[in-house]
Amino acid sequence: MSHDLIVAPSILAGNHAHLLESAEVVAGAEADWIHLDIMDGHFVPNLTFGPQMLGDLRNGGIKLFFDTHLMLSRPDLYIEAFAKNGADLISIHIEPDYNVEETLQRIRDLGCQNGIVLNPGTDASAIESLIDQVDLVLVMTVQPGFGGQSFQHAQIEKMEQISSWRQERGLNFRLEVDGGVDRKTGLLCRDAGVDTFVAGSAFFKDSDKSSFLKAFAK
Ligand code: DX5
Ligand code: ZN
Repeated sequence: MSHDLIVAPSILAGNHAHLLESAEVVAGAEADWIHLDIMDGHFVPNLTFGPQMLGDLRNGGIKLFFDTHLMLSRPDLYIEAFAKNGADLISIHIEPDYNVEETLQRIRDLGCQNGIVLNPGTDASAIESLIDQVDLVLVMTVQPGFGGQSFQHAQIEKMEQISSWRQERGLNFRLEVDGGVDRKTGLLCRDAGVDTFVAGSAFFKDSDKSSFLKAFAK
């Protein structure tokens, strides 16, 4: 079964002094998802938001699907707080040293969908044994930490590999791409089997945001 295409604008590219307004821009463009980049200044060289940001967006009336990307060295220590504050999906990286499989299961036990994330330097084989335990696989097309970087085309092969595993094994996870996605690079990802697209700077810079959200439809 293939998924309907979803574009998840990243709040990282919004105004960090006016996060509710930035989320309202995403909702106003009729997005279904918003991508929330959570950074610890340790796994990645940048710091962003904590769980309270999600709760305050919910209290501010944001009903969007919270696609929560944890760029943390120890995501296992924080999943409860994000789940309690309204996360719908929590994706965690394969690279740091913690119990990945147990954490993926605990995310589901908390009532959230789970996702596994690979950095550009990480081979698809690192997550092959996990793809039957996740709702989403996220392929990074930039080194995580900052928005506005250029798309790494070499990652397209990885998307194709994961997409064929999904097909061959009759699995149903979403395949998401994140980093440097714009109207052009998004189409390359779609043709490689991607159905979920994170876009930060390209979305917030675009003059026609609702048309951007439909830019990858076939
Ligand atoms: C980078 C984040 C991405 C980033 C995407 O560490 O994980 O979600 O916000 O921003 P753009 O689309 O501007 O590359
Ligand atoms: Zn992200």
